[in-house]
Amino acid sequence: MEKVVSGIRPTGNLHLGNYFGAVKSFVKMQDEYDCLFFIADWHSLTTHPKPENIRESAKTILAEYLACGIDPEKAGIYIQSDVKEVLELYLYFNMNAYLGELERVTSFKEKVRKQPDNVNAGLLTYPTLMAADILMHKADKVPVGKDQEQNMEMARLFARRFNRIYGVEYFKEPESFHFSDKAVKIPGLDGSGKMGKSEGNAIYLIDDEATIRKKVMRAVTDSGPAEPNQQKPEPIQNLFTLMEVVSDKSTYDYFNDKYNTCAIRYGDMKKQLAEDINAFCAPIRNRITDIQSNEEYMRKVAATGAEKARESARKTLCEVREIIGFRTTAL
Ligand code: TRP
Repeated sequence: MEKVVSGIRPTGNLHLGNYFGAVKSFVKMQDEYDCLFFIADWHSLTTHPKPENIRESAKTILAEYLACGIDPEKAGIYIQSDVKEVLELYLYFNMNAYLGELERVTSFKEKVRKQPDNVNAGLLTYPTLMAADILMHKADKVPVGKDQEQNMEMARLFARRFNRIYGVEYFKEPESFHFSDKAVKIPGLDGSGKMGKSEGNAIYLIDDEATIRKKVMRAVTDSGPAEPNQQKPEPIQNLFTLMEVVSDKSTYDYFNDKYNTCAIRYGDMKKQLAEDINAFCAPIRNRITDIQSNEEYMRKVAATGAEKARESARKTLCEVREIIGFRTTAL
């Protein structure tokens, strides 16, 4: 079976945009591939988070992914820092990574601009750690957002370069799987653009009913259609797009018809939308709470996932050490 590996940046709670993007495609992939998903807590060190934040966000993300349907019986899910083997591969790749090419990575240049006082070596070598994450498990496919394409190209480059330097056909170039190509783009509630944490326009899976209602009622609208069957301006289309993913088709059709006959009342539509978003999120929200309160279960899931990852990592490391010329494999 083909292998899939992907890392999850632990940057806070999941929102509907994440759900219909990365999360849904992970859940689908676990039925079709041999999957390993991990929480990239080492990568998050580049911005120097507080220890309690690291601990908490790893747990939150784990609980949320499980609540969304990642099944530990099907996919391995682990915390990156639990599988130390990857650091050795990171070191080897760093030896074959050049300053110039690392400095040219767009996300590095962006970070240099955003955090000029903390341009650390971890930031510079982010792509080599990511390559190690992926190549350690000989992934065939890597589900990522479009913004990760340059890092994926670096991973392929490091795989090729390793093979060339040592005259082997060892690492296979991993393929990107852009889930955004397949998924519905979930818009934000501020009238334009997609839902995102930094945009401040998101509905989180853990938002309670009152919060959801408040956010939806505040969504940007206009003064209504001027003529029948007119094209919907972006803020209105956004409400319909949200309705399309969370509501019944008949509900969607009802409001669509109201719009097309210029009889729409946005207040009614928003009320219905808030209700349907809540109905959609409530079971997930309850599962998140249940899972979070079961520390023992989460520990077991993470330990099982880590063991699965370690097994494949050890095998790769033994072979890599052999190729590089290290013969003592006291692993
Ligand atoms: N860089 C990825 C992101 O920001 C997270 C990540 C780390 C990752 N290691 C990975 C993704 C390995 C895929 C494979 O989203």
